[in-house]
Amino acid sequence: MDPSAVPALSLSDGYTIPQVGFGVYKVPQHQTAEAVRTALEAGYRHIDTATLYANEAQVGQGVRESGIAREDIFVTTKVWNSDQGFDSTLRAFDTSMDLLGLDYLDLYLIHWPAPTQDRYVDTWRALERLQGDGRVRSIGVSNFHPHHLQRLFDETEIVPVVNQIELHPWLPQTEARVFHKKHGIVTEAWSPLARGGILGNPTLDLLAEKHGVSVAQVIIRWHVQLGTVVIPKSVTPSRIAENIDVFGFELDDADLAAIATLETGERTGRDPDDLG
Ligand SMILES: NC(=O)c1ccc[n+]([C@@H]2O[C@H](COP(=O)([O-])OP(=O)(O)OC[C@H]3O[C@@H](n4cnc5c(N)ncnc54)[C@H](OP(=O)(O)O)[C@@H]3O)[C@@H](O)[C@H]2O)c1
Repeated sequence: MDPSAVPALSLSDGYTIPQVGFGVYKVPQHQTAEAVRTALEAGYRHIDTATLYANEAQVGQGVRESGIAREDIFVTTKVWNSDQGFDSTLRAFDTSMDLLGLDYLDLYLIHWPAPTQDRYVDTWRALERLQGDGRVRSIGVSNFHPHHLQRLFDETEIVPVVNQIELHPWLPQTEARVFHKKHGIVTEAWSPLARGGILGNPTLDLLAEKHGVSVAQVIIRWHVQLGTVVIPKSVTPSRIAENIDVFGFELDDADLAAIATLETGERTGRDPDDLG
């Protein structure tokens, strides 16, 4: 897959983000560098990790071993809940950068608002500082409901460039996407395949047959047409390649209407208001 086939979405700070990225949640340390190299060879230029995933060092290793110029790869990591707070976030960032072995980061996210801790506003101020110091290009959040975002708008200076949220055909997050768009925030979809749980769906099977592609490709193409950034995870080389090969077909209005009927509101993860 030619990496230039993947659209670069504009962020409100002037940078861009490749619309299809590679997620590494639950990729074991011993498989991560190889999975990242495989993804980069397959054409991905965007890797999504987090302190929680405990594989930042191996992500950095895979990036270096790929031989691809650092500037051509977009790397995201995230501050974990227990590191929230101004000073502790600055320290957590240093630790992540040491592990990644990179001299700048493309995107740093607050992983969850963790509202019962009530430290996400201070945490956001730390991200503003890191951006001001030139250590990270773009700053954003993850799992923020509109009311958490509104608090950042009211109490801090910079509007997050992305919000990475759970999003798949069961949970299309229409309200959140409309809110993000209004505020110039790009929506990123995590667990875009509902962790694989949606793959046996008969409606999607029919669409896959119609277009001569896999069900995973139908879903990833749906994300692309919604305009969200999508970061599927796989440790299987054939799936890694398949998941980015979604630019040779298009879902029509009837296909999109069929996928819209799959909405159930079901989450594979926690509601952000309940994870403290
Ligand atoms: N911000 C957050 O709170 C948050 C939370 C969760 C995830 N994320 C991010 O989002 C990324 C993706 O989410 P996810 O890992 O939870 O789930 P996902 O990408 O929705 O699904 C991954 C599962 O689907 C399987 N799979 C992938 N491609 C497939 C294909 N073409 N055909 C059949 N099965 C396929 C994988 O199996 P194999 O690996 O065995 O091939 C794996 O079991 C994560 O890796 C992480 O970067 C962020």
